[in-house]
Amino acid sequence: MEQYAIKGGNPLVGEVEIGGAKNAALPILAAAIMTDETVIIENVPDVRDTNALLQAMESIGVYVEKLDRHTVKINGSQIHGHVIKDELIKKIRASYYLIGAMLGKYKEAEVVLPGGCNIGSRPIDQHIKGWEALGTKVDIAHGSISAKAEVLKGNHIYMDVVSVGATINVMMAAAMAEGQTVIENAAKEPHVVDLANFLNSMGANIKGAGTDVIRIKGVTKLHKSEYTIIPDQIEAGTFMFAAAVTKGDITVKNVIPKHLESITAKLIEIGCEVEASDDAVRVVASKPLVHTHVKTLPYPGFPTDMQPQIAVALGLSRGTSIVTESIFENRFRYVDELTRMGASIKVEGNTAIINGVDKYTGASMSAPDLRAGAALVMAGLAAEGFSMVDDIHYIQRGYEDFEMKLQSLGAQIEKVESEREIQKFKLKVG
Ligand code: UD1
Repeated sequence: MEQYAIKGGNPLVGEVEIGGAKNAALPILAAAIMTDETVIIENVPDVRDTNALLQAMESIGVYVEKLDRHTVKINGSQIHGHVIKDELIKKIRASYYLIGAMLGKYKEAEVVLPGGCNIGSRPIDQHIKGWEALGTKVDIAHGSISAKAEVLKGNHIYMDVVSVGATINVMMAAAMAEGQTVIENAAKEPHVVDLANFLNSMGANIKGAGTDVIRIKGVTKLHKSEYTIIPDQIEAGTFMFAAAVTKGDITVKNVIPKHLESITAKLIEIGCEVEASDDAVRVVASKPLVHTHVKTLPYPGFPTDMQPQIAVALGLSRGTSIVTESIFENRFRYVDELTRMGASIKVEGNTAIINGVDKYTGASMSAPDLRAGAALVMAGLAAEGFSMVDDIHYIQRGYEDFEMKLQSLGAQIEKVESEREIQKFKLKVG
């Protein structure tokens, strides 16, 4: 089993190129099947989740060709079934985007129920509510969800919670429904906007994405498009916090600084210097970190996907910090691992009370999910001595070449598969 071996203590210094956003790529790849014409998507991150989705799409007859590592050509004209049972798809949550896409195009779909990271209960009632409002009959049986409509008809939908997935899934179906749909209390995340822009580039008529009211005038047909996915806000944020915890100096390149504002604000609060230019952000951590409080919120609030990373930094800052997780209830599973590195964190319900310590000490850890896994790697890089992180398949779901990018910044980290490789690494780094 692959693990990361890490020797901590080096400040990370240099420039790192950020890839395309996983959470934008997933709905955009799914939506690409909504036309029979050929679609070319650029800046697709080469990570496990996007590859699993592409494989599931191929299983129903979608033509998928990688023109290069990050460019995918997709043609959905030969789809031969609307039932997706591919085993891989169970592992990724975004499999349900194929329901929204197929429902819009064919008015029917059946997909095995989504998996994804175990970060708390992840209901899909708002997706279902939205599809039903458009005239769809939705059934859940034998581990699959099926959706079928005689006619999809636009409607006024009020989301009871702000949900990225539900907003995206309803937007896709509504793009090809009859008449107008209004989604109120919509999610405003950059990837919601990116999907709307992509659908519009295929001929959809979607207005207001990025605000809480999205208006969609259904069209009968979508057409070919070439589209470039936005940079990954969370990958960028992870490297920005890696600078903070290792007392480093990192420039994240190929980013949209506007998408990083809440992350930047917190880095400044804890004592880092942050300089933004048109498409890059530099984070310098030359002073000791200081405590702050943070609550995760839907965009433009501080992202829940950055909560473990900021907690790792707060664990090394002076004073007491409070982290409140308001989106997912099970997102503190990394705390026990950090405690074994010397962190002082107490979790009460959806709140973590963090008393900063002077240093972490290397330990063996397991990645509990994607973002927490990346955060534990950062903790290992900041720590004194050796650390091991296992279950790194979670990290590979969403970070492309994670260890290589870290190595290019001076990190001592290697992917290892055997005791022999671990010993070799230890000898190499001393
Ligand atoms: C997406 C992201 C994930 C991120 C999350 C919040 C993808 C593939 N994943 O997940 O990385 O952490 O947004 O930014 O893009 N909820 C309901 N009913 C629903 C749907 C959601 O109650 O039908 C609740 C959830 O339990 C959660 C909140 O709404 O408390 C937000 O979830 P949502 O925005 O839907 O997250 P995902 O789309 O699953």
